[in-house]
Amino acid sequence: MTMRRRGLAVAGVLGVLLALGTAVPGRPGPELGRAPRQVPPEPAAPAATVAGEPDCTRLRCVALTFDDGPSDRTPQLLDVLAAERVRATFFVVGQEVAARPAVVRRELAEGHVVGDHTWDHAQLTLLDPERMAREIDQGADAVQRATGVRPTLLRPPYGAFSAAVRGRGLPLVLWDVDSFDWRDDDAAATARRGIEQARPGSVILMHDIVPSTPRAVRPLIEGLRARGFTLVTVAQLFGHPLAAGQDYPRAPAGPPATPHPGAVTWRYRPAAGPDPDQDQVVAAPEPGRCHPTGRPGFALRDETDRDVEMYRDGDCTVKAARLHPGDELYGEVGGFRVLAG
Ligand code: NI
Repeated sequence: MTMRRRGLAVAGVLGVLLALGTAVPGRPGPELGRAPRQVPPEPAAPAATVAGEPDCTRLRCVALTFDDGPSDRTPQLLDVLAAERVRATFFVVGQEVAARPAVVRRELAEGHVVGDHTWDHAQLTLLDPERMAREIDQGADAVQRATGVRPTLLRPPYGAFSAAVRGRGLPLVLWDVDSFDWRDDDAAATARRGIEQARPGSVILMHDIVPSTPRAVRPLIEGLRARGFTLVTVAQLFGHPLAAGQDYPRAPAGPPATPHPGAVTWRYRPAAGPDPDQDQVVAAPEPGRCHPTGRPGFALRDETDRDVEMYRDGDCTVKAARLHPGDELYGEVGGFRVLAG
């Protein structure tokens, strides 16, 4: 689909969703559509989940999620994840699973979580209840047929869901960070958007059918780690079984960053407010790991979603507090000012 057609399709989708009163997450990135294909339904089987070890109540966790595969590019992506020792979550399309069952078996074997993204990527809110149910069930059937494991998580295509979709009894895993990898198919841009927008508890949306996405993943992982994030599966991110019918765009934020070994601890003094003298720990620099903006300094995103920019030549930091324009930051090597809000 061309960008223009995709844009028009998205506009149409949003219009329909608004008309139907269905929920759309913050910025639902349009996804790549497919022509419907019919397959006979298969009976359901017991659920299975993948448990995780990282404690995301104590760590700053984010989850990488890859939709619409498996594709011929997925093995390359899996190679990167294996080399980086990162586990991710794949929301797979049933007809693609049927075409490449071994790839999905590999995803599970390497510790990734596999969730249902329907049989052929239909927009569930446009279907009658019977067809909607079949889309979800056949997607899960395909995974079960390929792997023996039935997915317990659903990501509705386009992030579009309704009360009827909720009623199918699966948790709905959405996202709060859209990499827009499909939009310009540019690995550097994809990585940059993921790094800049991630917050503790974020779910990052990507697509393992986009040609540049496997190349975006290593710089993305490095950038997120430089910001003090631990990369986990969706199951690990939430740390508890998700409720049927509930939608989850992101997990509650974990604690502020704990300083890396040898890090300078920065403190934060609000420039205004009720308690301007109360210091708060804000940052845990990790020397040599940064996300330069091309200007002296670096861009960060605070917990309130606003971009801030800190100036301190030649160094980088990971912030972990609410910052406001005009706030002053200071530490062992002098102060700097929050310049943008
Ligand atoms: Ni999709």
